[in-house]
Amino acid sequence: LLIDKGNHRHFMAKEIHEQPEVVSHTLASFLDMASGAIRLPELPFDWRSLTRLTITACGTASYAALCAKYWFERFARIPVEVDVASEFRYREVPLEPGGLAIVVSQSGETADTLAALRYCKEHGQHTLAVVNVPTSTIARESDVIVQTLAGPEIGVASTKAFTCQLAALASLAVGAGRARGALSAEDEGRLVQALIEAPRLMATALRLEHEIEALAKDLVKATDVLYLGRGTSFPLALEGALKLKEISYIHAEGYAAGELKHGPIALIDETLPVVVIAPFDRIFEKTVSNMQEVAARGGRIILITDEQGAEAAAIPTLKTLVMPQMPATVTPIVYSIPIQLLAYHTAVLMGTDVDQPRNLAKSVTVE
Ligand code: G6P
Repeated sequence: LLIDKGNHRHFMAKEIHEQPEVVSHTLASFLDMASGAIRLPELPFDWRSLTRLTITACGTASYAALCAKYWFERFARIPVEVDVASEFRYREVPLEPGGLAIVVSQSGETADTLAALRYCKEHGQHTLAVVNVPTSTIARESDVIVQTLAGPEIGVASTKAFTCQLAALASLAVGAGRARGALSAEDEGRLVQALIEAPRLMATALRLEHEIEALAKDLVKATDVLYLGRGTSFPLALEGALKLKEISYIHAEGYAAGELKHGPIALIDETLPVVVIAPFDRIFEKTVSNMQEVAARGGRIILITDEQGAEAAAIPTLKTLVMPQMPATVTPIVYSIPIQLLAYHTAVLMGTDVDQPRNLAKSVTVE
């Protein structure tokens, strides 16, 4: 297998641009395009008997897991617990035998995630691993493997593995919802249609690259950046902040927009860029209130929304990035693109080693 950067300056850029294709491949292993149904992997348990789902992961994969919580609760009506593996493994979590534990890992070798998986097995859980490397230790030790088809990811900061994890987890949640009778065949068909559209929407989002590159010239001057979002845009805010700090070394924090008034609002002044991830959805108006709080204190808002959102927000922003309109289910997958591009172009301007950021490792196999 030949691994090169193609026409790109960094592996990270190449991997960002590959996403419509690899997400499409990943989705193809779940979606039956003809019937509009989800094909679930063969499972040693019945979705209907599950009373609880436990998902653990580290780093970027833990944000995919957090996003999956919203999907499994909404589509499959299963209570979900999500935790970072390093906390989960030492908490002595009580688990009812017969439950399902999902671990999410690009490499399949992360020490803490592996330990969390082993803990769940020892405590009678069925185990399902969402991994990018099917020969990995985590894959070998899990009852069921769901492979993300991102291909080799070279950039230390995860991009395409993340969106493929999201695609796989969204598909699983819809499939689980159908299997549990929480979704009708019609609901399933509608959600499958939404997922099918995701790669095309991602390709459209990639066309914002020049605008984002220009915006990075502002971000590069910041010492801190705040990312806000609600619902599935909350994990994305966490991921956006992680991406920026990993590769540009600018301090960034992701927050649930509703938590703004419980702390981060104290930081807001005219020097603080605030990236707001807010597709026009059922909680959009709530996020608008938070933007008003930021604007009233002179904060510089970078709003990532769609046309309806841009119109409805009616708030002065430093920049509004207008995304295509899309069903709510796929927004985290598609909005990952501007989030990643913003971190990438800021890091390029900073002159950091984008593919090999200092102090970070691609795969953390020791504790
Ligand atoms: C490292 C990488 C991150 C990754 C995390 C979890 O910190 O730098 O990009 O998200 O490990 O890795 P995994 O292979 O388990 O997804």
